[in-house]
Amino acid sequence: MLALGIESSCDETAAALVRDDGTILADCVLSQFEDHRAYGGVVPEIAARAHLDHIDRLIEAALTQANVTLDQVDLIAATGGPGLIGGVIVGVTTGKALALAAGKPFLAVNHLEGHALSARLAPGLEFPYLLLLVSGGHCQLLAVEGVGRYHRLGATIDDAAGEAFDKVAKLMGLGYPGGPAVEKAAKGGDPARFALPRPMKGRPGCDFSFSGLKNAVRLAWTALESPTDQDRADLAAAFQTAVAESMADRVKNALTEFQARYPGPAKLVLAGGVAANQALRERLSTLAAKKGAELVAPPMKLCTDNAAMIAWAGLERWKIDQTADSLDFAPRPRWPLDPSAVKLPGAGVKA
Ligand code: KG4
Ligand code: ZN
Repeated sequence: MLALGIESSCDETAAALVRDDGTILADCVLSQFEDHRAYGGVVPEIAARAHLDHIDRLIEAALTQANVTLDQVDLIAATGGPGLIGGVIVGVTTGKALALAAGKPFLAVNHLEGHALSARLAPGLEFPYLLLLVSGGHCQLLAVEGVGRYHRLGATIDDAAGEAFDKVAKLMGLGYPGGPAVEKAAKGGDPARFALPRPMKGRPGCDFSFSGLKNAVRLAWTALESPTDQDRADLAAAFQTAVAESMADRVKNALTEFQARYPGPAKLVLAGGVAANQALRERLSTLAAKKGAELVAPPMKLCTDNAAMIAWAGLERWKIDQTADSLDFAPRPRWPLDPSAVKLPGAGVKA
């Protein structure tokens, strides 16, 4: 089986060709960083137009790179949500049109399911596992029991983790995307100079919160008369440490819940752009070792938004029930992976 995957839910336009044995024949990603840089964040209208400008060329490039024609593709999987609706519409419409023209099944894939299953592209990762999904739009902990079987243990009650990095970077004039810029600035910084809160730390449950921390950074920053590079480095380091520490605390509770629910060796799998953060990885790796769990950190290319994970999730679903989605499928700005999870207040629950 060969799947064409299409991703357009945020600021990456992507197309990929993946076989059901996990071989990635092509994985093309076009980031729109330059289009959004001046605004310090993703502008939905600009993103949608950029997807429209590039998506057909990118699919063509992926087919050429994989050395296959559309005829040789067995199914077409496009991100059907959740995400910025203008972009999702572009990807879904393109996927449907290709499926109709080529007479192939069309699958609308939940972007979060793509992230949740992406680590299985490398052979050997069996269900169940605990997934920490931390990106610009999402921040949640999921017990992944099987394809289509997700149990949300916790999520952010306000901002997503990446969003907090991006906003803090914008505040300190560090540029966009914020995560890598904050990490770079933090390298020469003293994390102990500014006393910042560790949101949710010590509380029961696995939910996250970042808005109070973000506000504390803003207050510390505005209290500085004329901030120097060292001030910037110290505050970036303090913020990064606070994020990593509160996140590790949430993951600790989630691992405890996970280990009680699923006996046997536990695996903690990372996904999302924030998983690139070295300080966070180090803390999680120490935590996993302490809890007797294995930390699985897939290659960054699979952690950040890509279409290989969408093609793969389509294949995983197809293997189970060979059911295509209707061409009437309506793109979904919100699409929780675990509909039974408690509805949390705030903008961070973008699933
Ligand atoms: O998964 P992703 O590429 O796209 C989505 O948001 O879906 O994640 C992008 C997010 C951005 O908010 C970016 O600032 C953050 O991941 N990020 C990082 C790092 N690299 C990317 N955050 C912290 N440290 C990093 N090294
Ligand atoms: Zn994503």
